[in-house]
Amino acid sequence: MVVSVDSLASRAGLKVLQEGGNAIDAAVTVGFTLAVTYPSAGNIGGGGFMVIRTANNSFHAIDYREKAPITSAKDMFLDGAGNVIKNASVNGYLAVGVPGTVMGLWQAHKKFGSLPWDRLVLPAIQLAKNGFKVGPDLAQQLENFSEPLHKSKAVGNVFFENGKTLSTNHKLRQPQLAATLKRIAKNGADGFYKGETARLIADDMIQNGGLISQNDLDEYETVWRNPIYIRYRGYDIYSMPPPSSGGVVLAEILNTAELYPLNQYGHNSAGYVHTLVEIERHAYYDRARYMGDTDFIKFPIKKLISKSYAKIIKAKINPFVAGKSEKFDPIFSPALESEETTHFSIIDKWGNAVSNTYTLNASFGAKVMVRGAGFLLNNEMDDFSIKPGVPNIYGLIGNDANAIAPQKRMLSSMTPVIIQKNDRLFAVLGSPGGSTIITTVAQIIINLIDFEMNIRQAIEAPRFHHQWLPDVVYHEKRGLNMDTIHILKGWGYRLKSRSDLGRVQGIHLDMDEHANILKGWSDPRGSGAVSGN
Ligand code: DON
Repeated sequence: MVVSVDSLASRAGLKVLQEGGNAIDAAVTVGFTLAVTYPSAGNIGGGGFMVIRTANNSFHAIDYREKAPITSAKDMFLDGAGNVIKNASVNGYLAVGVPGTVMGLWQAHKKFGSLPWDRLVLPAIQLAKNGFKVGPDLAQQLENFSEPLHKSKAVGNVFFENGKTLSTNHKLRQPQLAATLKRIAKNGADGFYKGETARLIADDMIQNGGLISQNDLDEYETVWRNPIYIRYRGYDIYSMPPPSSGGVVLAEILNTAELYPLNQYGHNSAGYVHTLVEIERHAYYDRARYMGDTDFIKFPIKKLISKSYAKIIKAKINPFVAGKSEKFDPIFSPALESEETTHFSIIDKWGNAVSNTYTLNASFGAKVMVRGAGFLLNNEMDDFSIKPGVPNIYGLIGNDANAIAPQKRMLSSMTPVIIQKNDRLFAVLGSPGGSTIITTVAQIIINLIDFEMNIRQAIEAPRFHHQWLPDVVYHEKRGLNMDTIHILKGWGYRLKSRSDLGRVQGIHLDMDEHANILKGWSDPRGSGAVSGN
């Protein structure tokens, strides 16, 4: 079964499984296909994380996060007076980290793949070359970002027809992207990091004041890391270690949540929201205070993910009174911006599983396309803390632990997870949403385990989010009922309703009644699809 945000990608992945490919083979196909059919977040110009479970029950995590260019510097987004240069880390060439996606898929395939690489890239080439009909979701995304996309010279007419973005049912053809993908199909990672594609990237950077050079591309490497392991109410959860904060923050949230009888509180009741929000406040404070790329800095991961640390967090939580974030540190009130990243989940017939989240960061990344190569570049540099205490586009703040340094990876919130019980697969899931990814994933896990929801109920249930700063409980429209809101306000909370939180793509194995039946669900907040047989 393959669950992704796009039906063409899910089907292409399933076809690989039907031809005898394994979950990692299918992941390569889905990863490349989304780069064609879901250009706001699917990518070859970005990066991400993949958690893998093999049929013989071993767990692996590959870090293919972007890296800061060799010539980047801590203060590169500050002016002479030390003030942040508006939007420099968000739009345009300086915002771009050295892309990792092609190397990530290549290395995952090298270690675990079984079908030939070029077969796996082929569906993406065909969709880019022959075109496909734009669906309503993509049409809307293109329209929303019409202005910034129009400004990128290299985007040219790719997403436009008669000066307007492509509307539903119009064909999107991407011949330059098809040519780039062909080079990747033929030469593997070298088809991106060397030769023609690399030359096009480096030239584009020189012409537009970017920093990425052939040297950066030569030196880019992925890292196999040990997944973060969390034991939650008898289930075993595996997720991403730094440079994603996802696994560690998820561990803090779940370990502390385990100390409360959540299922007795009732789903999204005031007591439940209060408990989770207070835990999140502490966990996100730790994120801002400690976390960054552990290849460059150290922080006490073992302590933070321990059961004894959860007791310390619990002791600080006052039942029935809202905590106060400014008591921890000074306060900031940033806005939450538009977000796009994407997750896919795959399980094959042997029990290999892939949980993959990758991204360009914001929708359509830095809104620039490599001239002549047809793909968009990420704006992941904004995930660094560009100045201590200054919020990024998700309102997250940080300090020196997540400061820019040459070849360092920016801290992420991406949280692909694989869950099992008694050594058998239980669920594979993940979500986009910037800072809200971790709280979204935590709520799905609690929905499945504590509230015994099925995968559809768990994904569809309304969500809420708190991230220490700003000191606000964000909840989806109609996500909390009026009684709950009144009670929470009485306890001192500031609440704000907002648009969707996350787009979860999940697979669940019903362990008791229908052993070995896979149940997939693609979040109706997006327009994805489950493909399985
Ligand atoms: O790595 C991160 O945490 C962010 N760059 C992810 C961005 C994201 O999820 C946007 N999506 N909705």
